[in-house]
Amino acid sequence: MRKKIVAGNWKMNTTVSEGVELAKAVVARSAEVPANVGLIVAAPFTHLVCVADAVKGSKVEVSAQNCADHEKGAYTGEVAVNMLVSAGCTWTILGHSERRQYYGETDEKLVVKTRLALDAGLGVILCVGENLEQREAGEHFAVVKEQVENVLFHFTAEEMGRIVIAYEPVWAIGTGKTATAEQAEEIHACIRQVLAGKFGAQVAEDTTILYGGSCKPSNAKELFAQKDIDGGLIGGAALKADDFIQIALSF
Ligand code: PGA
Repeated sequence: MRKKIVAGNWKMNTTVSEGVELAKAVVARSAEVPANVGLIVAAPFTHLVCVADAVKGSKVEVSAQNCADHEKGAYTGEVAVNMLVSAGCTWTILGHSERRQYYGETDEKLVVKTRLALDAGLGVILCVGENLEQREAGEHFAVVKEQVENVLFHFTAEEMGRIVIAYEPVWAIGTGKTATAEQAEEIHACIRQVLAGKFGAQVAEDTTILYGGSCKPSNAKELFAQKDIDGGLIGGAALKADDFIQIALSF
């Protein structure tokens, strides 16, 4: 049975002390969440050491929101994968649409980053998703398929065991406009089919695929009830511990 995961993407929100408080509040309620549902919080770089400390001994895992595309050296302002590991991270998000859109993150760069992250022992949450224009042009299946192929086809079936995919339609992120459960499910099913074609049915069956984009306590149940939706990558609603936990209780 593939793992269910609810991951909170805090983005560029909270001070260090606010982040630690939020992490502690998530930990305080984490025992309510069933054992087969993983909880991850993706905090800003500056918070990682303190947040990792705050979740120690609980089921909550810590993720970064990005990593450098080099191992070390003269790359001012960047944060390397071994730094993330040493800070207590076990995951990193990669390829979030905000990074693709504002920071020029390409699929080619994501191959490099994913390689570095996996080799350092991190799990990867790879984000894919079409924008509004692509959805309206009916290109959503093709766009997502291409993003998945461009990055993940560089990895092995075994490495897929440490990669989670997050389908996040860009038009649903932070807009309050959620994809309907049917719209999300058909893309998730398509992603699984793409994985099956390359890595075989077992890998496709075992890969966790999250939905992200205005997922909140009021719509999580319907989304998570879909057969190919294994949890969520939560932005806005992850900034309130009670909402985040409520979402994790929606399976
Ligand atoms: P949102 O963000 O839940 O605020 O829409 C999701 C994300 O971008 O990961």
